[in-house]
Amino acid sequence: MKVNGTHYRSLWWDNSKDALQIIDQRWLPHDFCIQQLDTLSDYANAIVEMRVRGAPLIGATAAYGMALAARLDASDAHLNAVWDQLNATRPTAINLKWALDRCRAALLPLPVDARANAALSLAHAISDEDVEINRRIGEHGLKLIMDIAKNKPEGEPVRLLTHCNAGWIATVDWGTATSPMYHAHDAGVPIHVWVDETRPRNQGALTAWELGSHGISHTYITDNAGGHLMQHGQVDLVITGTDRTTRQGDVCNKIGTYLKALAAKDNDVPFYVALPSPTIDWTVRDGVKEIPIEERDAREVTHVQGRMEDGTIDVTQVTPLETSGGNPAFDVTPNRLVTGLITERGICEASEEGLCDLFPDLA
Ligand code: MRU
Repeated sequence: MKVNGTHYRSLWWDNSKDALQIIDQRWLPHDFCIQQLDTLSDYANAIVEMRVRGAPLIGATAAYGMALAARLDASDAHLNAVWDQLNATRPTAINLKWALDRCRAALLPLPVDARANAALSLAHAISDEDVEINRRIGEHGLKLIMDIAKNKPEGEPVRLLTHCNAGWIATVDWGTATSPMYHAHDAGVPIHVWVDETRPRNQGALTAWELGSHGISHTYITDNAGGHLMQHGQVDLVITGTDRTTRQGDVCNKIGTYLKALAAKDNDVPFYVALPSPTIDWTVRDGVKEIPIEERDAREVTHVQGRMEDGTIDVTQVTPLETSGGNPAFDVTPNRLVTGLITERGICEASEEGLCDLFPDLA
């Protein structure tokens, strides 16, 4: 997507520097900072510190991490150790393990001296595939938006609601939940997006920045506003992303997604999840029982961070000093609350049958 007229992916390999470049998302939406990752610690820290974030982007970053690992020492022992190091960075998004497994499975059968080149080519392929997957999700999601638009008076926008940032910077490009929005806007279908702020890390501000840069009408709302808007007929469609979807179609996504799905169900608002196939964890069924939920630093909840008028970043405590905070970063929306899954191969029911019909080769 474009930033100030220049097209960017959220990460890219710079041949002249022979290294991976990322957008350091800690400073968005205020500052657009490009950073180079040089060491394996750089890769691990970039994921841990959420310089890169979003399930597909974490996976792509890890693939480049394996490419660096193969360059430094392509032995089985080293590749296995780096697999462990990177897999331990964040526990919930399955794309991380998916990418690491794919790299390891492709590299270990090769002669050691062929691994470095193969690993870099594979990381490029994983990135390119992510872009194409998300583009297709956008095409399928566009049909949903167009169907709603057809039943509205001419020019009246389709009102979508999204949670967190499942945008182009959470993937390599396009985003998952945002891809249908970009496609709709580009096709001339009027839309308006309600953007949940997504406390505590305010990923909604990243979504607002993305949508604003693309000229898409949007409103930034508190996390608790969605139910009220749905009760008052202000939301036509909810689309969120996912960090891990089980084989029966339970969806694990940013904390608060479950409450949006409950409110949508109670108000007959369709609740769709944009799901790239690498985000399906075929090994688990019951998301509530089986998916590990990342517990993050309580300071993200007890403190707020923002940019002051002079440009400095300020961190302020909002709770009494002695109050402790709790910070589960994801929750699980059971499949019964999900109207459908928008995948790169089309839209299916959130069920084992629905997923297996679309992905018989992966199931
Ligand atoms: O903690 P984050 O910011 O990495 O969480 C991101 C999300 O929850 C996204 O909705 C999800 O990764 C889908 S991204 C296309």
